[in-house]
Formats: sequence, C-alpha cells, structure tokens
Amino acid sequence: MTVYRVDVCVLNDDYSGFTKLLSSHGLSLHVRIYSDNGIDNLLLDVGPSNRIIKYNSELLGLDLSDVKAVVLSHRHYDHTGGLKHVLRVSNSVGKRLTVIAHPWIFKPSITLSSDKQEFDKGMPYSYEELITLKPNLILTKSSLRISDSTYYLGEIGNYIDLSKYKEGFYTVLDDGELVPDNLPDDTGLSVKVEGLGLIVLSGCSHSGIANIVKQASETLKENVYAVVGGLHMLKYSEDDIRESIRILKDLGVESVYVGHCTGFKAEKILSDEFRDKFYKIHTGFKITFKGG
Ligand SMILES: [Fe+2]
Ligand SMILES: [Fe+2]
Repeated sequence: MTVYRVDVCVLNDDYSGFTKLLSSHGLSLHVRIYSDNGIDNLLLDVGPSNRIIKYNSELLGLDLSDVKAVVLSHRHYDHTGGLKHVLRVSNSVGKRLTVIAHPWIFKPSITLSSDKQEFDKGMPYSYEELITLKPNLILTKSSLRISDSTYYLGEIGNYIDLSKYKEGFYTVLDDGELVPDNLPDDTGLSVKVEGLGLIVLSGCSHSGIANIVKQASETLKENVYAVVGGLHMLKYSEDDIRESIRILKDLGVESVYVGHCTGFKAEKILSDEFRDKFYKIHTGFKITFKGG
C-alpha cells in the first residue's frame, strides 16, 4: 500500500486563529490518508470536550462517522474529553469505533497545585462509562500497525533523557498511594508518505519530541519529513530545546507545525531554526502533505 497524500485538519488547538471555531486548551487532529487502497480517516486525540469537537467538525464539514480509528496520544483530559461524541457519531451509523491507546488510559494523572490541592488531568470517563458506547478498544504498550504505512508508536524509548520534565505528575496505586507518574502512555502516530518520508503526529510530547521522532524513524525505517502537534517544551531549558531540534534535523525533519503546549520560548527558537518551514497551528489549520 502506497500513501501519496495526507491531509491534516486541526479540530482543536489552544489558539483559534482568525476563525469562528471554538478553542480550548487541548489538541485534536483529523488525519485523512490517501493511498492506492482508498481513503482512511483517523483522529489523533479528540480535544478537551464533546461540545468542541462536535461544533468544530460540523463547521469544518468533517463527517466523523467515517473515522476508521481514534488514536489517543495519552490520557490527559485535554486530548480525550471529546471521545464520547465521536463514539456516539459512530454508533449512530451502526459502527463500533476502534480506539487505540495505552493500557494506562483510564488511570488518574494527578498534578498538585501550590496549595497541595489534587487535580486529576486524566481521561474524564471511566472504563465502565465508556464501554456503554461499545468502542473496539485496543490497549497496547507496543507499537501497532494500523496499515502498511501508518503506525501507532507505543511506549517511547528514552533515547535522550528528558524525564525531568515529567516531574509533578502522580498516579494512584490500587491502595490509594500517590506515586510519581512518568506518563508511559505518551506516544504518537506516524504515516509514511511515498517520496516525502514520515509525518509524525504528536499530542503533548511528554516523552520528548526528539524521542518520539527517533522511535518513528526506528519503527518505520525512514527519515522523518515533518512534525505536527504539541511539543510541551514550556519548562525546557534552551539547551534542551536546541538539542531536541538538532536531533529532529539529524533525522531529516524539514518542517514543523506546532501549537498547543509547545510554549512561546520553544516556538521562537523553532521559528528561527526552521524559518519558512515553521508553522504555528490553530484550530481550523489545514495541512496537505503530497508525495513525489
Ligand atoms: Fe496536552
Ligand atoms: Fe498532556
């Protein structure tokens, strides 16, 4: 199977651009893959709420009933909150929607505020609640081939150690103990476009975009052409931002399309480094990748 074109439409980003679309902290990417087998529509993440993904998909003219699968980059609410709407749309046309995620997708992900208040950033739905909408749930730690050219990347290796930026997250053991959460569920999606290379789509990049891109190139044995998503570099030192960019460039990355949790400092450096191949995404932003 040969993919010759990929269209990405941002269904939700923190920034609405100059559109009338709804935006809230979170990310959802609609991915349309054109191959010699036909067209597949996927979602990487579903944004923070059912209301936003419903409103924006309708205004953008994207029919979510033909989505083949939802890939959840990780369990945070700003990437999983719209899941019920997409499942309901699939149910309305008699489909069981495939949802691909890590086995930790239903675990709490607690952050502690300065006054030690707990705030659960995890998926806002329990397993019991979600299963009533009959998803075809595929929970795996490993990479998963969605088609010949499209892979869910699974748990990401620590090729460059960026684990200090995961500090501050906790999860809860069965006995109620709060323990550090290194977000092993955080991953990405990669599509190989013939003649171009890999497109890597990431939700929040808690694992480090350099690690995610490295894993994509190891999994699909290809250079990476472009990165799309949130890079979560808000707390990164300038050295770690520059080292991450160096790794991306070494792996072939020519274009970056970033938003959500990337952070202004990193966006400034990325913009200086990638120049006219740097794009700040927003809700409603559309990208077309065409192979040679
Ligand atoms: Fe996020
Ligand atoms: Fe996150």
